[in-house]
Amino acid sequence: MAFESKIRPIYWENGVSKMLDQTIIPYEYKYVDITDGQQMFDAIKNMIVRGAPAIGIAGAQGIVLYAIEGAKKYTDVQAFKEWLIDKAEYMSTSRPTAVNLMWACKQQKEIIQNSESDINGIIKELEEKAVEIELDDIERCKKIGDYGAEVVPKGATILTHCNAGALATGGYGTALGVVRSAYAKDNTVQVFADETRPRQQGARLTTFELAMDGIPVTLITDGMCSYFMNKGMIDMVVVGADRIAANGDSANKIGTYTVAIAAKYHNIPFYIAAPLSTIDRSIATGKEIPIEERSREEVTHINGKRICAEGINIINPGFDVTPHELIAGIITEKGILRPDYNKSIAEAFEL
Ligand code: MRU
Repeated sequence: MAFESKIRPIYWENGVSKMLDQTIIPYEYKYVDITDGQQMFDAIKNMIVRGAPAIGIAGAQGIVLYAIEGAKKYTDVQAFKEWLIDKAEYMSTSRPTAVNLMWACKQQKEIIQNSESDINGIIKELEEKAVEIELDDIERCKKIGDYGAEVVPKGATILTHCNAGALATGGYGTALGVVRSAYAKDNTVQVFADETRPRQQGARLTTFELAMDGIPVTLITDGMCSYFMNKGMIDMVVVGADRIAANGDSANKIGTYTVAIAAKYHNIPFYIAAPLSTIDRSIATGKEIPIEERSREEVTHINGKRICAEGINIINPGFDVTPHELIAGIITEKGILRPDYNKSIAEAFEL
């Protein structure tokens, strides 16, 4: 059963991408118009839109925007296609870790390569694909939510890290999709949300969207999870993913790995919730997942204010990889995949 979210982080309307600016939530709830390809690239890079499935949708829309731009430069279809393929490849580099971005851009690239239409026809096909990717993601997330809800115990407290919610997807969420579907069946379910340093997606975004939907949420800082696990206050962990290797190793927001280790120690099931578009079967293990390195300022400053000494060393990886042995199950739109992941992942793609 679906518990609808009111949030739609990105949608396409009359040749423009309407994007909820996630850098200013919870202070403001404001949409910006993204009207050209470079603006979309920057919006993804600067995290105005973020979350693996949402940046996939954004990438697909960004290529439509480039196509509209290209139609003003070229009359020759072949020249238009060559220019646009370069732009599609560029768009897929706007962030390196979440594979949904490359997955969506690849689909647009295939349309450009294989279409037999004229320039306007190609634009229409790309536009249809971008809308399809968005709407399809909402459906996938609802299925993820419903499968996941089956393993949520009655009255459970679910810990999550970062934001894998409506804001991070087409509009229902993966980890928070599980929460939404579980809450629709049992309104005694509640969430503990890790703050998620340095960008505070948990504090700023997860609490915001759960509060908006009236789902009980308690905010904790990142270092507190094992304290509450030890007190028996956490029944399960559900997080999203940015890229899952063929063996189940899963990249997600930095700090996820620590939560998974703590969950294992306390015998608490740790689940990943993600659509198949997050699985990258071209890589065997998590060692091959590229980890985004972000700016020093994300660590040294909070709300523009320096919080540490000047001149010190800073390292700021945006993601970490949770080894498959720590994962109780990967909740997908095709059901819950269990170890051996090499086998269950391969089978899910056959369904
Ligand atoms: O850097 P972000 O905010 O894009 O990172 C997002 C996450 O790590 C999410 O957990 C992940 O993309 C899954 S979203 C359904």
